[in-house]
This record gives sequence, structure tokens and C-alpha cells, in this order.
Amino acid sequence: MSRVVVITGGASGMGAASTRAFAALGDVVNIVDRDAVGAERVAAEIGASAFVGDVSDSAFCSSVIADVVDAHGRVDVLVNAAGVIHRNGGLDTTDDAWSRVMAVNVDGVFFMCRAALEHMVSAGSGSIVNFGSIWGGIGSAGVAAYCASKGAVHQLTKALALDHATDGIRINAVAPGEVDTPMLSAERGSRPSAADLQALADATIPVKRLAQPEEIAEVVVFLASDAASYMTGAIVPVDGAFTAQ
Ligand SMILES: NC(=O)c1ccc[n+]([C@@H]2O[C@H](COP(=O)([O-])OP(=O)(O)OC[C@H]3O[C@@H](n4cnc5c(N)ncnc54)[C@H](O)[C@@H]3O)[C@@H](O)[C@H]2O)c1
Repeated sequence: MSRVVVITGGASGMGAASTRAFAALGDVVNIVDRDAVGAERVAAEIGASAFVGDVSDSAFCSSVIADVVDAHGRVDVLVNAAGVIHRNGGLDTTDDAWSRVMAVNVDGVFFMCRAALEHMVSAGSGSIVNFGSIWGGIGSAGVAAYCASKGAVHQLTKALALDHATDGIRINAVAPGEVDTPMLSAERGSRPSAADLQALADATIPVKRLAQPEEIAEVVVFLASDAASYMTGAIVPVDGAFTAQ
């Protein structure tokens, strides 16, 4: 039976790759993204529904889940991929930048999880996959707010998994390393050159290459599926051995 899947950040990068992977399995996919053009484009490509708005708005998150439940009777899977990065150390992080990163990366994940969990608890089943990061478990200079936000996502994932451990609901996170998505260009003005990306990979990633978004989506699909039936509260690195070092 096809599942009813809600994916935030589904207009781009790993969220978009995840929407395509679920759609290929015959699932009913609902994209949530603030990028109307991107969300409509991916939705049209795979026959999904698009909800355009900001996940840092609690009322919007509740309305998305309510609309999906109205339309399909349930929400089986929630994937929280929407996220933003701010490339500054702590001293150069303004109040606005800090608040924006926390609002999208932490508040947004919480609001979507809470709204979905209300229905999943009633249904007695469900699976949530959050997007953490290597920077949620270890630190990095120059991305203070982002590191803090992803650490919060990891902890929220574990806490919610424990809240719902006996409710038939599993809640996990993927922690990707460096992935080739549009986020590489965010706050840099443009995409780094191929030579710069290879130099980054050679210097920091044991497998000496960036991940492709589809390689993360495969893990998201696995975690969401019954094949991962004994996995909950897990933070799964998908990082080419970055955090094995
Ligand atoms: N790219 C990487 O190297 C990397 C590594 C580890 C973790 N991550 C995380 O993976 C997730 C996906 O990242 P990506 O690289 O695919 O990024 P991306 O920039 O390609 O896509 C992010 C999507 O989120 C949407 N979005 C941003 N803010 C939003 C908001 N307030 N409301 C609704 N939608 C919003 C954007 O419009 C975009 O479609 C993010 O949570 C990111 O932090 C990325």
C-alpha cells in the first residue's frame, strides 16, 4: 500500500531527491517549501502536491498536516529536510542571522514533528526522518548558528523518539557530510569551482568526494521504511567516513 509522505524542503537538493525516491516507490508525496517555483516544478515532475510556506510558522505547519490528513486520511511519513545555513563564526553572527537559522532549522522541525505526531499517535504508527548534519555532532569554525541548530535537531530527534518509543512511531535523523546541492552556493554568492570542491574533498573527506543528494535520499527512504523497524532515536551518519576520523 502506498504511504502518505510529507517532505519539507522538497523543492531542492536532498529534499527533492527524497521526493523522487518516495514517488518512485508509488508513495503519495506532499512537498512543503517556501520556494513556490521550485516546489511546483518538482511536484509537477513527480505528480506530488505542493504546499508553499515557511516551516518556521507554527500555524502553517499545522495547516499543512491538517490538509494532508483531510485529503488522504493519514500521514505515514514526515521528512524534515528544509534548512538554511549561515556562514559565520559566533562573533559575526547577528541577532537576525541567529534567529533565522534557529527558526528554520529547529523551530521548523519541531513544529512539523509536533503537528504530524498528533495524527501518528492516533493512528498508532508513523515514521519521521529529520535532517541533522555532521555539524550536529562535531563542531566547525565559521558556522556557529548552523552547528548549534543541527545539534538541537539531533537532540530533538532522540527526545521525541523516546517520547513515542511505545506508540508505534519511529523518529530518526540522517547526518550528511558535504553534499552537492544548491546549499553549497548559499551565502557564497556562487557555487565553488570544481577544483575548489575537489580540494575540499581531498583535504577533509576520507572517500575524497562529495555525496550526491540521491545517496542521502536512499538512506532516508530506508529509515522511513519498515526495513528499519528496530531503528528509532538513531542519528545516522552518511558522510563518506568524515566522522569516523
Ligand atoms: N548540503 C549539505 O552539504 C548538507 C550537509 C548536511 C546537512 N544538510 C541539511 O540537509 C537539509 C537539506 O539541505 P540541501 O543541501 O538539500 O539544501 P537546499 O538548499 O538544496 O534545499 C533546502 C530547501 O529548504 C527550503 N527551505 C529553506 N528554508 C525554508 C523555510 N523556512 N520553509 C520552507 N522551506 C524552506 C529551500 O527553499 C530549499 O528548497 C538541510 O536541513 C541542510 O541543513 C545539508
